[in-house]
Amino acid sequence: MTSATKQRQPEICEFMPADYFARLDTKDIFADGKPLEVDLGTGDGTFLIKMAQHYTDHNFLGVERLLGRVKKVCRKARNNELTNCKVLRLESKYVVEWLLPEESVDRMHLLCPDPWPKERHHKRRLVQQEFLEAVFRALKPGGEFCFKTDHPEYFDWVVDEINTFGKFQQLDWPEDAFYYPKTDFQVQWEAEGKTLQRIRVQKP
Ligand SMILES: C[S@@+](CC[C@H](N)C(=O)[O-])C[C@H]1O[C@@H](n2cnc3c(N)ncnc32)[C@H](O)[C@@H]1O
Repeated sequence: MTSATKQRQPEICEFMPADYFARLDTKDIFADGKPLEVDLGTGDGTFLIKMAQHYTDHNFLGVERLLGRVKKVCRKARNNELTNCKVLRLESKYVVEWLLPEESVDRMHLLCPDPWPKERHHKRRLVQQEFLEAVFRALKPGGEFCFKTDHPEYFDWVVDEINTFGKFQQLDWPEDAFYYPKTDFQVQWEAEGKTLQRIRVQKP
């Protein structure tokens, strides 16, 4: 194998599917079968790591497309000796649509994603009907989708998309409802005086 074709060795805690074109078996990600939570666009993993430390009876899969961030999250997971946390370096929509098995996920998080504010870029927004259909399919009955943004127009867009989709039930989400740590971007944005809006919905 030449250096050009040599495969990158995965980090410890990095999950690399054996086949990127076949639907996963969740046992391939975590063999122990604990409830699965997926954090889309996990960034530097602040949220993912704290969740994995707190909810030790759940497994956490972070999805992130940037290699540097994947390595950083893996380093944190390793330093904290977390066995219930892995990172997959891939595009979120692809993972939800094509890799996650049906009714496999207990909670899906999409926190502080890029709002693509310019109108000509709105089609790049992750939350659209096809994406919601894929989230719905991947969630177990009773499973939840949690979304946060600092961008009021994107928040309204997401609420509209969810209402148009029509299959989710909205749940209350008071601040102290359950342990839910702030993400890295949330901390940065709140320090700049921005406020975040959030929505939590459930598959009936
Ligand atoms: C604004 S940051 C938010 C990170 C983290 N969720 C937080 O709140 O701190 C968005 C992250 O999502 C990643 N990202 C953006 N689009 C993505 C996609 N389509 N698939 C996977 N990761 C994506 C970016 O590389 C970045 O790390």
